[in-house]
Amino acid sequence: MTNESFKKIFESDFYINEMVKVWEEGKRWADWVNELSSRFNLGRKVLDVPCGIGRVSYYLAQEKFDVTGLDISERMLDMAKKNVPSAKFLKGDMRMLEKTIGDEKYDIVVNLFNSLGYYSEEDDMDILVSIKNVTKGVAVINIDNRDYVIFNMPETRYSYIPPYMVVDNSRFDPLSSRVETVRKYLDSRGNEVGSLEYSQRYYSLHEIAKMAKRAGFKLLDIYSGYSWKPFDIGDPQMTIVLSPVR
Ligand SMILES: C[S@@+](CC[C@H](N)C(=O)[O-])C[C@H]1O[C@@H](n2cnc3c(N)ncnc32)[C@H](O)[C@@H]1O
Repeated sequence: MTNESFKKIFESDFYINEMVKVWEEGKRWADWVNELSSRFNLGRKVLDVPCGIGRVSYYLAQEKFDVTGLDISERMLDMAKKNVPSAKFLKGDMRMLEKTIGDEKYDIVVNLFNSLGYYSEEDDMDILVSIKNVTKGVAVINIDNRDYVIFNMPETRYSYIPPYMVVDNSRFDPLSSRVETVRKYLDSRGNEVGSLEYSQRYYSLHEIAKMAKRAGFKLLDIYSGYSWKPFDIGDPQMTIVLSPVR
């Protein structure tokens, strides 16, 4: 995706509406990060990247973490600042975090809710290297599991994201391992009121693990979503806990 096409998606009213709908899940993530910090005896300085509208930052701040959120979208950041006045928010590109953050290092860096795969594989490598360079404790990457997606993703999926009925038409391309989705939003009368096109690269564990190692990380643990269940090949999401190799 180019910067312009991603802006069209992430800054649209439709997308923001979807992020608001999953706001509460931020609490689950904050509880999980809190437990992680106890298990690994980590400090409280957290970088939430990309932070979106601040749904995870909000609950992390409530749990007394010292939170910095970073996102490329001004619209997302404006909402995050209003939602979490106690946190610090920065506009920046996760492919080159040092450009915004400089030499600052964080005890915990979280990259949650399938926030890799928007751009090219090289861009994802840049994101991993960039995250490694600002991590002094652990980094957490949470993404969908390609092996689950290819066997469970329906070609057409209907969901209700108030106030819209949402129809996704998705196609998995085995050559590029990208899912191309056309998402249509219908009003209560069934009239189409808008649409968005997504393209996202999905990774299997062995691929993302190899990339993380190349980026200079050591794999500590792999869990299923925001649970403490060890990741299994059939799980929808993987949450990978990494520490930088010094
Ligand atoms: C799926 S949302 C996830 C937000 C947050 N992690 C959450 O769980 O609510 C993806 C976010 O990535 C941001 N984004 C996309 N490309 C980015 C980039 N190159 N650098 C920083 N943020 C980016 C978008 O603006 C959007 O807010």
